[in-house]
Amino acid sequence: MKEKISELLARFEADLASGKSPDELRVAYLGKNGATAELMKELRNVPVDRKKEAGQMINGLKTKLEEEIGARARALEEEALQKAISSARRYNPTLPANNDLGSYHPITLVQREVEDVFASMGFTVEEYPEIVDDYHCFEALNIPKHHPARDMQDTYYLENGQLLKTHTSAAQNYIMKKYGAPLRAIFPSRCFRNEAIDACHENTFFQMEGMMIDRDISISNLIYFMKTMLSEVFGQDLRVRLRPGFFPFVEPGFELDISCLICGGEGCPSCKNSGWLELCPCGMIHPNVLTAGGIDPEEYTGFAFGLGLTRLAMMKYGVKDIRDFNAGSLRTLSQFKSR
Ligand code: PHE
Repeated sequence: MKEKISELLARFEADLASGKSPDELRVAYLGKNGATAELMKELRNVPVDRKKEAGQMINGLKTKLEEEIGARARALEEEALQKAISSARRYNPTLPANNDLGSYHPITLVQREVEDVFASMGFTVEEYPEIVDDYHCFEALNIPKHHPARDMQDTYYLENGQLLKTHTSAAQNYIMKKYGAPLRAIFPSRCFRNEAIDACHENTFFQMEGMMIDRDISISNLIYFMKTMLSEVFGQDLRVRLRPGFFPFVEPGFELDISCLICGGEGCPSCKNSGWLELCPCGMIHPNVLTAGGIDPEEYTGFAFGLGLTRLAMMKYGVKDIRDFNAGSLRTLSQFKSR
């Protein structure tokens, strides 16, 4: 038996050296019909008094083979890992930086500009979630259930009864309650309406709401702030005018126009020869809205406006198709790199 074992061991070492895989070795030496199984069968022919010793020898052999095959398998794994590491592209901190920097989205650029101008006039910049409830989006804004004004804004409702905000006015009530009067705040946000999409309409767009509430705030304050801010943003001295507009949360309500950016008010194709461009709805905050926000309308008045940031960006950068803003096209967006 001893001889057979050392013979087998020699064969095994030769196989190992010749590079047989661990799997092959396992089958050949430790498998059901492998070499050690054969030896076990031969135990039958060993005289009784030597059986125990022979059995122990075979078991010792098996353990040794298992260890050696295991060691070979681990060595191969390690080798594969090292190969993968050394063939991977290495990070080289000494290479020059990639100068292909990203750029801000045009709407972000316009938003920041408007924020800066208003901040310099004492307004705080506020945040409010995009998912809101019916109370904040409508009820608190003097738009009761079944009011026809709800049809002006085709709302996306969620299964839990909440909705995607259709306008930034949805934060008015929250901000009034947060600060009380007097207050000056602007609050930009993405808004959503179920609109058919074309070059002028998107179901996802950005607005910037503004509110100023204090004693004796009047329409002339509204005109002054809008004129100052818009002249700054467009880098030219603009004229503004108000036309009547209807929104349940303002009284009186207006549409604010600015003098045409192209012709300065002379009349050209881009303003349809009127000399004016429609820019943003606004008005004096309705007493019911102030009351809902915990502010006494006998003591305070205020104005609010809902500036279309997307529209503003289109006008400022001469973007003709609103869909360019949400398309994520680098060809479009990278043009705003240097601004
Ligand atoms: N929230 C209105 C809209 O999006 C705009 C608006 C804001 C009108 C504030 C008046 C005052 O249609």
